[in-house]
Amino acid sequence: MRRKLVVGNWKMHGNRAQVTELLQELISSATQISQGVDVGVCPSFVHLGLVKDQLAGSKLILGAQDLNEQPESAVTGEVAGSMLFDLGVRYVIVGHSERREKLKESDDLIADKLVSAQVNGLTPILCIGESLEQRQGGVTEETVVGQLNVAVDKVGIRAFNDVIIAYEPVWAIGTGHTATPEQAQEVHRLLRDHLAELSAAVAEAVRIIYGGSVKADNAKELFRSADIDGGLVGAASLKAEEFISICKSAG
Ligand code: 13P
Repeated sequence: MRRKLVVGNWKMHGNRAQVTELLQELISSATQISQGVDVGVCPSFVHLGLVKDQLAGSKLILGAQDLNEQPESAVTGEVAGSMLFDLGVRYVIVGHSERREKLKESDDLIADKLVSAQVNGLTPILCIGESLEQRQGGVTEETVVGQLNVAVDKVGIRAFNDVIIAYEPVWAIGTGHTATPEQAQEVHRLLRDHLAELSAAVAEAVRIIYGGSVKADNAKELFRSADIDGGLVGAASLKAEEFISICKSAG
């Protein structure tokens, strides 16, 4: 039985006061969330230390939104996986569509980041998903399987025992147009079936979470689907009450 996982991706939002207020509300309400649900929060790099200091003893797990693919070295402005681990970070998002699009991150680079995350003891949350044009053009399956394959080819199927996959259709991110539970389930299933061709055990164990306009009022229906193991939540994770409600829907 796979444990459900809900992760808040705070993206490039918040100042110290806002982050502290959000976190305090989350920490004080976290006891309402089922023990069977894992919960993570991914603040920006500059707020990781602040959040880590306040998280002590809470059930919330610290995540980062990105890492550099290189080991600690002379790369100005970047952050190495070893630094994140040292700080207490445990999850790291790789390949978010905003980075793929705005920062032109390639599948190859993302696979290298996934390797770097694992080498440094971090659990990568690998984001994949099709654009609206790709969905309308009927190439959703080949797009998401193609993105997944580059990572599988790089690290091998066994490494996926410690990878979380986030299916995030680009057309659903920040748009309010959530994929229906049927649309999401269909893609989650095909991803799991694809992995099962390489290892039935890994496919059964790997957590595939959904992201794209997850809200308090649609989370329960999404999380009820057989192959949806939780959510990666953007905007709604910045509102404590709504995020807690989403987490409770997973329990
Ligand atoms: P929204 O929940 O704001 O659509 O963002 C989803 C996302 O990108 C999570 O990584």
